[in-house]
Amino acid sequence: MLSKKIHGHEHSRLHTRTGELTAPRHRLDAEERIPRVAYELVHDEMFFDANPRLNMASFVTTWMEPEAVQLMMENFDKNLIDKPIYPQTLDIQNRCVAIIADLFHAGEDFAGTATVGSSEAIHLSGLVMKWNWKQWYREKYGAEAALRPNIVTGSNVQGCWKKFALYFDIELIEVPLDAGNRLDPAAAVARIDDNTIGVVGILGNTYSGEFDDIEKLNALLDENNRLWQRQVPLHVDAASGGGIAPFTREHRNIVWDFRLQWVQSINMSGHKYGLVFPGIGWAIWKHKALIPQELIFNVHYLGESQEDFGLNFSRGAGQIIAQYYNFVRYGHKGYARIMNNLMELYQEIKPRILAISNRNGIYIFDPVSHDKGLPLVCVSVTKEAAELGYRMETISHRAREKGWVLPVYTMSAPKEQLVVMRIVLKAGFNAEMGDKLVEDITWAVNDILQERTQMMVSHGAHGVC
Ligand SMILES: Cc1ncc(COP(=O)(O)O)c(C=O)c1O
Repeated sequence: MLSKKIHGHEHSRLHTRTGELTAPRHRLDAEERIPRVAYELVHDEMFFDANPRLNMASFVTTWMEPEAVQLMMENFDKNLIDKPIYPQTLDIQNRCVAIIADLFHAGEDFAGTATVGSSEAIHLSGLVMKWNWKQWYREKYGAEAALRPNIVTGSNVQGCWKKFALYFDIELIEVPLDAGNRLDPAAAVARIDDNTIGVVGILGNTYSGEFDDIEKLNALLDENNRLWQRQVPLHVDAASGGGIAPFTREHRNIVWDFRLQWVQSINMSGHKYGLVFPGIGWAIWKHKALIPQELIFNVHYLGESQEDFGLNFSRGAGQIIAQYYNFVRYGHKGYARIMNNLMELYQEIKPRILAISNRNGIYIFDPVSHDKGLPLVCVSVTKEAAELGYRMETISHRAREKGWVLPVYTMSAPKEQLVVMRIVLKAGFNAEMGDKLVEDITWAVNDILQERTQMMVSHGAHGVC
């Protein structure tokens, strides 16, 4: 059967080149295909995705060296959970944990695990905080806590914190940001009470890239914990910044990690500035004893008894091996080279984006991000450009015609009315691509101008952007 009835009409499902049926959408086809044909069918469909290298929306790695890809392919068939069967993979995971813990100045007594991404690492860290808080509460009051626990974060936390709060029944206290798009440490600490399981600082927020002042947060938390005789810990969400801060000149003097007393856990996405393709994150704790025994599972059905601490059971080994490849390949110098190059590129590109004007000399973008964090340019539309009808969504759509993916969204409280666009620089982006990006956004704003001019002329109006 080479056709299918839709609304009573026969429609061909013929794939012209192979002469086969197109790939099934809702139900398995009755017959088999040979591998090459199946490959062609699926391969052709993937053209409709955006080009990942032009995806400026995401922090996630879109380029790796061929040697890393080869290693990933060689190890795709290994499942990390089969620890006794793949001891070398497990050992490599542990080496990665140790290397990252060392970068974050954890000392000797750290614990950690690979995760699917920062989201899983955050869920695990949150659960550890919740369990330790329960224990603290029990010891202090001799009873189980009656009220729902809470966690204090900035209003700009990534969605995975909202998921964590929802899935694990925690109240998320979102503190509005200061004028620099950062968590105000005093405002955050003021929200702590006996039901607070932890405070979260972000090293490179998702919206505009700034690093929170973790050192100040730690100092105020220390005062507050002493005053109220609490032990509220600090978690650092270093999903992106954890791969940048240890290496860049700009951030050399920032103290944000385990050197600070109350920082007990840190998450980092291996698939962001750890430079690995999607599917790998890391959760690190300062001390082994922080992880409650009740959260460690003993699994015996894989042949030998083994311990497991994670939300998922199975986990592909490829990304872990690729993370280790990067550590072996780049060393400190290589990561520093890449991250410093990205920061330099950011310093070059940001003023050029801000200098974009249309043919009538109207500047289009105002800066929103401050130069205090990730290589991320976040901009809003200037008042003049907005008055002339420019909208961020239209600019982004128009740039998409040239292949660029530029996300448009609103900031978090207290700037939730501000519509912004971000351009995330990551490894694989380069100066030529930067030139082309500026050129294409300039084209987009002039194309919008031209369209509006034609529209207004045809309506007999005057005064256009
Ligand atoms: C600050 C922050 N935290 C957590 C996450 C979630 O990370 P992942 O995508 O690795 O689960 C992100 C993702 O962008 C992030 O920017």
